[in-house]
Amino acid sequence: MTSTLITGGTVVNADAAIDADVLIEDGVIAALGTAGQFTADRTVDAHGKLVLPGGIDVHTHLEYPVDAFTTHTADDFYDGTMAAAHGGTTTVVDFVKKEPDRTLRDTYLRRRETAEGKAIVDVGLHAIVPPLEQQASVHEDLKSLVAEGATSWKFFMAYPSQMVDDSELLRGFELAMEHDVLPMVHAENGHMVAREMDRLVKSGETSERSHKTAHEHGSEAEAVHRAIVLAQSVGTPLYIVHVSSADAARELELQRVRGVPVRGETCPQYLAISYEDYADLGPQAAAYLCSPPIRERSNQAGLWRRLQTGVLSVVATDHAGFCLSQPDDLPPQKLRSPGYFPKVPNGVPGVEDRLMVLWETGVVPGWITPSQFVDLTATQPAKLFGMFPQKGSITVGADADVVIWDCASDHVISAEGTHTRTDYNIYEGMRVSGTPTSVFSRGEHVVDNGVLDAHAGRGRFLSRNAPQIL
Ligand code: URP
Ligand code: ZN
Ligand code: ZN
Repeated sequence: MTSTLITGGTVVNADAAIDADVLIEDGVIAALGTAGQFTADRTVDAHGKLVLPGGIDVHTHLEYPVDAFTTHTADDFYDGTMAAAHGGTTTVVDFVKKEPDRTLRDTYLRRRETAEGKAIVDVGLHAIVPPLEQQASVHEDLKSLVAEGATSWKFFMAYPSQMVDDSELLRGFELAMEHDVLPMVHAENGHMVAREMDRLVKSGETSERSHKTAHEHGSEAEAVHRAIVLAQSVGTPLYIVHVSSADAARELELQRVRGVPVRGETCPQYLAISYEDYADLGPQAAAYLCSPPIRERSNQAGLWRRLQTGVLSVVATDHAGFCLSQPDDLPPQKLRSPGYFPKVPNGVPGVEDRLMVLWETGVVPGWITPSQFVDLTATQPAKLFGMFPQKGSITVGADADVVIWDCASDHVISAEGTHTRTDYNIYEGMRVSGTPTSVFSRGEHVVDNGVLDAHAGRGRFLSRNAPQIL
């Protein structure tokens, strides 16, 4: 039995912050108490610092195939979870996209094996529900995957070859409800996006900045509204991933105030970066292209207000990193087709930066409190995705996923100082005052002052329980 005592810090949970020592035994939180109450094999000093639950990022895309399997993201499960650990995130939940020559179930089981062999921190997997024409037996597979821990399924309302129509959404939502699964949607009206993209291409407006024009606020707000109405007609809760538009957040708000069990996620790139930051970069703007797009600066306050009031419940990253250069061992990356936005692989990195960026842009200016920060980045993700109370709070019996957070450090984010394979950082040059100085995963001190002490494969696969939507 090994034990660690974290002394002198302020423990911040979603419901309260208290000064307490934290005793860790055999990978779990054994007790919280006052100074001098406990002894342990090892003591870690947290005086003047905060002690937070490890971050949970429920939206990553590691070694993830895109663009009809012609390329994939740069970080594998090792790179991505190692970067996550450096940033204070001790759990990630990634996605399984059915491979063309495999069933969804086989793809899921193989991806689980891949993740288990490489992960530094704990990993779960959501299943992506493909159009029925790709696999007639997809519903059978989905049902069987609940027992393998896939208690959340994602539906795409946009993207050729992935988007499902309303009738498939309704059937999928019904099945999710019957099996206590949380349906998630990528909410953009794919027909509106495709039509606008077509118009832009025909009129020669193909530069990178036009990507945002193809993904207007209306196409996101319409899809959010429709997805919620469809979920309501079935009676299931719903989770909307990467809400980027304040108009879309307003649709969510209108339903939340009526008590509809819909939850929304936004991402740091929509809060801290704006269209104005990349619009004039020419082909290099590819670095910022993701869907839905990073929008105008004037859009940001509408998202912050919804985080403040709890209309948006989660901040995850949608980490889908590609390189601007073209490493020999990777398939085509961001600059595969300069000047032609439809071919830019979509996605931005952020798994390592999430907590620091949210602290700096959210807690420091007063949009959210430290407890709200914990709720958005750990507690709500754990509850909604079936990991609570094992993860998501610092309470007796929970996994000892713990971050010692120094809010008085001074650090400038840079690609060079970041651990993902992506060769740029959209937060380059941002000065942040809060940083994770020590990171524990199930009681193991995996990062200490920026130094990693963990091997590939130490992370465990999380077979998740049913969602808790209160
Ligand atoms: O542009 C993005 N968001 N890429 C990742 C795939 C997705 O839609 O979530
Ligand atoms: Zn998406
Ligand atoms: Zn995504």
